[in-house]
Amino acid sequence: MNKSKIMAAAAMALTATALNAAQIKIETDDISLVLDGETGKYLNLCYFGEKIANTAEFGYAWHITQPDTNDQYGTQLYPAYGGRFFLNPALKLTHADGVLTTELVYKSHESRQVDANRTETVVHLQDKLYDASIDLRFTAYKAENVITQSVAFSHNESGNVTVENIASSYITLKASDYYLTHFHGTWANEMQLSEERLTPGVKVVESKKGMRTAQSDNSAFLLSLDAPAQEYSGEVYAGALAWTGNYKMQFEVDEAGLLHIIGGINPFASSISLAAGEQFVTPDMVLTYSNQGCSQITHNLHDWARKYNLAHGDLLRPVVLNSWEGAYFSFDEKVITDMIDDAAAFGVEMFVLDDGWFGNKFPRNGDNAGLGDWQVNKKKLPHGIGYLADYAVSKGMKFGIWIEPEMVNPDSELAHKHPEWIVQSGKRDLLPMRNQHLLDLTNPEVQDFVFETFDNVLKMSPNISYIKWDANRHADNVGSTYLGDDQQNRFWNDYIRGLYSVYERIRAKYPDVLIQLCSSGGGRVDFGALKYHDEFWASDNTNALNRLYIQYSTNLFFPAMATASHVSTSPNHQTGMMLPLKFRFDVAMMGRLGMELQPRQLEGDEKTFASNAVKLYKQLRPVIQLGDLYRLDSPYDEDGYCSDMYVSKDRSEAVVFAFSTVYHNRTQSYDIKLHGLDPAKHYMLTEVNTTSGSSYPGNGKVYSGEFLMKAGLSLPVGGAYTSMVLHLVEQ
Ligand code: GLA
Repeated sequence: MNKSKIMAAAAMALTATALNAAQIKIETDDISLVLDGETGKYLNLCYFGEKIANTAEFGYAWHITQPDTNDQYGTQLYPAYGGRFFLNPALKLTHADGVLTTELVYKSHESRQVDANRTETVVHLQDKLYDASIDLRFTAYKAENVITQSVAFSHNESGNVTVENIASSYITLKASDYYLTHFHGTWANEMQLSEERLTPGVKVVESKKGMRTAQSDNSAFLLSLDAPAQEYSGEVYAGALAWTGNYKMQFEVDEAGLLHIIGGINPFASSISLAAGEQFVTPDMVLTYSNQGCSQITHNLHDWARKYNLAHGDLLRPVVLNSWEGAYFSFDEKVITDMIDDAAAFGVEMFVLDDGWFGNKFPRNGDNAGLGDWQVNKKKLPHGIGYLADYAVSKGMKFGIWIEPEMVNPDSELAHKHPEWIVQSGKRDLLPMRNQHLLDLTNPEVQDFVFETFDNVLKMSPNISYIKWDANRHADNVGSTYLGDDQQNRFWNDYIRGLYSVYERIRAKYPDVLIQLCSSGGGRVDFGALKYHDEFWASDNTNALNRLYIQYSTNLFFPAMATASHVSTSPNHQTGMMLPLKFRFDVAMMGRLGMELQPRQLEGDEKTFASNAVKLYKQLRPVIQLGDLYRLDSPYDEDGYCSDMYVSKDRSEAVVFAFSTVYHNRTQSYDIKLHGLDPAKHYMLTEVNTTSGSSYPGNGKVYSGEFLMKAGLSLPVGGAYTSMVLHLVEQ
């Protein structure tokens, strides 16, 4: 801002003070969000970005003044449809008397210190004419530089008000260019990064899949100002909606070149009729900002999630062997106890029995029967689950089990007993997906059933300490026999709120159980569901090459410690691709390591390699799971290389992973500069997870942090599907 603009802004700010105005500051260690509230006027966003000390100078620099009314449309913090506002609004109501417009103005605000790290600010907005109000609730997480925002609507009108659209947040930015990174995908290919320059108009990223909405696109996004997002420089904003249901993220570049980011529940077929005194609360939008590129965004969100939005985010995760790809539905007791024996020999700490263990009248021997009948299949497992759990414990391991409690196969006792529990659209034919239907979680009886399913499974043995909660179809052709004819639009919202209330009950009763969030892979990777879980299954695609891409994008937002990442067999079952065991382990070790194969298929040297790798991972995992992730080189840049590293919080230890995914010239080395180390410290470098020792000249040498970060390393990684892991320890 030039000097005259600053003075003009200061003068306006002063005028505003005289008119009963308040400047509202929502701040973390490094971020400021500054709002201008003036009684009876629109609430304006002055600034959202790098922390700024002197906020007195903020005026109306971004505003476009409407000639007739002197109102500004450009930077309303939470614009409703009404007045002169003509862009996509944050809020659209139809009032009890049928009036379509709403004009929200600032009323008051208050702040409270939740604890030393968190400040909560609530800003009250009021319609100019109607007894209808909005509360904007911000929580600022000081050290993590995260701000969450949610919105509550209530009214006291003489009849019901229809809420047609209610966003969780509306952020306006101004720059010469905007680059949006979002993450599209599909089953077995989730979180594919796509970056694009926004042009005038509206770019929409959304899901209408109802209850597993992260598979085709994720609500998490990056928004870089002026240039494509970089890792260690540039201004980047990130947002992610903490919601497992339909979402809609809109990126609207208006006629003045401002960008408006509107994020929240998808209004599609979801208008809610709200009686006087009722309240509607949106999910949280999780926001962060960095002036040092995406790397800082990741640190902010990982730290925040580990502390506030992930179960047991401070505890190390066990190494898992999951039975799915090793046994599918074809097992009996002996197959499982053999797997447990082998897993124990590899040093695995948790055995998870996947799908196929239940159903008697309709045995679960394939995906076409049994879902809903959560009794152990007596033919396959005559001694029950307790026997297997005890067996695992007797081998020094823990035991976990798979459930999919929101679903039912038509061939099940449950479907015959409670056809009315199935999500259905009036008299239309039911449309099975993976041979199954969705249970209607808007119905409290179904909520009880889902809770009891979890509860009863855990009651099968005190030695069950892990649940994999799956959800293998989405909601379509929706409708509920529980909701009234005029309430069907509530389905989408009430389903997710029903799901969350079950999660709440489960966590109240079972705070210590490890729960994996799975939905045909990564269908539910969102902060709304993650809060109740310890980890997620990022994809059913276990092929290490594809995982490099999926995990890279997923870990931009969601912590590596929560990313279940399993070594599977070769050729890979999803892609048919053959990859070296070392490459598969090196990729899986970048998250929460597990195995998902029939251990007996590993031979001689492979067995030794696998058990050494598990042992090594246990040594490295405090750094990988609890440290900071630095991306050194993206797989998406398509140079056939990629590399990540993890650094302990005290900078005393680091683990570097480097991969070559194509054949490079024999003379070419892979040059990488490390990040996040202490330049003044010295680190002993050891190549680990080798098949036959290290021939790397740097192995066993001591380097300064400065050298490693400025000069970097030249790694002999260049053959197709070769990889290297380096362990750095402060001397
Ligand atoms: C889904 C999951 C898999 C496995 C199967 C079992 O596809 O993502 O990991 O549990 O269901 O049917």
